[in-house]
Amino acid sequence: MQQIPLVDVSAQWAPLRAELEARFAEVLDSGQFIRGPHYYAFEEEAAAYLGVRGSVGVANGTDALVLVLDALEIGPGDEVICPAFTFYATAEAIARRGATPVFADIDPDTLNVDPEDVAAKITPRTRAIMPVHLFGRPAAMDALTELGVDIIEDAAQAFGSPGIAQRGRISTFSFYPTKNLFALGDGGLVASDDEELLQRVRMLSFHGSRDKVDFDFVGYNSRLDELQAAFLRVFLTKLDEWTQGRREAAQRYAELGLGDLVDLPQDEPGHVYHLFVCRSPERDRVHAALREAGIGTATYYVTPLHLQPALRFLGGEPGSLPETERASRENFSVPLWPAMPVEAQERVVDVVRSAVGVAASA
Ligand SMILES: Cc1ncc(COP(=O)(O)O)c(C=O)c1O
Repeated sequence: MQQIPLVDVSAQWAPLRAELEARFAEVLDSGQFIRGPHYYAFEEEAAAYLGVRGSVGVANGTDALVLVLDALEIGPGDEVICPAFTFYATAEAIARRGATPVFADIDPDTLNVDPEDVAAKITPRTRAIMPVHLFGRPAAMDALTELGVDIIEDAAQAFGSPGIAQRGRISTFSFYPTKNLFALGDGGLVASDDEELLQRVRMLSFHGSRDKVDFDFVGYNSRLDELQAAFLRVFLTKLDEWTQGRREAAQRYAELGLGDLVDLPQDEPGHVYHLFVCRSPERDRVHAALREAGIGTATYYVTPLHLQPALRFLGGEPGSLPETERASRENFSVPLWPAMPVEAQERVVDVVRSAVGVAASA
C-alpha cells in the first residue's frame, strides 16, 4: 500500500539542495554563526516581503510571542485575549509572562477567534488581543482592529498571506520545519512598523543589550541562527510559488468532491493553507479510515487550551467555549503540500468517500 504523508517537506527542499549546500559551505567558511550577514539580510528581506518597516529574527515562534509581550511590558495583572483553539504556545507565552490568558470562542465558519466574543471579554485589564491566523486563514482583522486594543498577531501559521503583519501592532512567526516558510530547525521572527518596539525586542533577544557590554533590561538569549537565516533566504524566494501550489491543491480537493463528504475549510483569497483542516461529525471514523489506508492525517487541539491541565488554574470549564469544543471534536486534516500529485489527492478523496459511505449505511 502506497503511503501518503500529511506533508512532504522534502519535496520542497530537495530541488534546492545544491543552493542550500552552497549556503552551508559559505557560512561554515565565514565562521560567523551568530548575527552574521544572512541574519540581517533575512530580516530586511522578510520585512520587505511582509510590507512592514522592520523585523527581528529570534530563536522560535514561542520566544517571539514572549519577547513581544515583554517588550510591551505585559505581565502580572494584565489580561490578553486569545483563542483556546490554537497551539498551546499562544497561551503559554502569555502565562509565561505572568499575565492572564482570557479565552474567546471561535467563529465555526473560519475556526478563527470570534470578534464578538472578544469584544464581550474586554475588561479594564485587557492589554492586548492575540488572534491566531489559524491553519493559514487570516483572522477577522477588520472587526478586531475596531475594538481599540493593541493587537499582537500570532502569525506562526500564515507567512505569505497577503496583508498579514500589516494590521496588528506587532506580529510573530514560527519557522518550525513544517510551516509555510520553514527553517531546517527552529526559527522565529517578530515584525512590525513600530521601530522603537522592535528595537526593544531586539535588545531583549540579546540579553537586554545593544552590545553585550551594557545591559539595559533583564532579557533572553533568543536569536535566529545565521545558518537558518541563510537557508530561509533561499526558501523566501520560493514562497509565492509554494503558496500558489497550496492554494491549487486546496481548490483541487473541492473539485474532486471532498466537500460533498465533509466540511471543507472556507476559502478566501488570503488563505495560505498551512494545513487543510476539514470537519465532520464522523471525524473519528474518517480519521481512522485514513490512517488505516496509510494516509497522513491529524486532529488538532483535541483538548482545547482552556481545558489543558497546565491552564486549568484559569478556571476553564467544559461547555464554556462551545464552538471551540465542537471544533476540537470534529476537525481532522488531510494531506496537502505544494505540488502534491493529483493521484494522491484522488486517493484521499476515495478513502474519505468510503468512510463516509460506511457511516451513512451503518
Ligand atoms: C499558532 C502557533 N503559535 C506559536 C507557535 C510556536 O512556534 P515554535 O514552535 O516555533 O515555537 C506555533 C508553532 O508551532 C503555532 O502554530
